[in-house]
Amino acid sequence: PTVSYVAFDGTETIVTGFAGDSVMETAVRNGVPGIVAECGGSLSCATCHVFLCADSAGLFPPKLDLEDDMLDGTAVDREDNSRLSCQLKLSDDVSVHVQTPETQV
Ligand code: FES
Repeated sequence: PTVSYVAFDGTETIVTGFAGDSVMETAVRNGVPGIVAECGGSLSCATCHVFLCADSAGLFPPKLDLEDDMLDGTAVDREDNSRLSCQLKLSDDVSVHVQTPETQV
């Protein structure tokens, strides 16, 4: 799988990840800016906020209630396509596009 991260300033970083890893883990492992992930993926920080591009919306299950609740506490206000990237697990061969917010804290 590959993930394209587009930063607030338009800079795109494309990395190859592993099936089963999250979009957050893939960013952290590769030093992609724009994702902080203070809690390490335990759904308790909301600093892994991303905007999931329309072409990637169908690649992941809908968010659970806890993720939805946590999205109310993001540094940049949530949008309809907001997700917490630690909850987005990559499948084989997917090509994912996300945008990262201006700040996570
Ligand atoms: Fe903390 Fe995703 S890494 S909620």
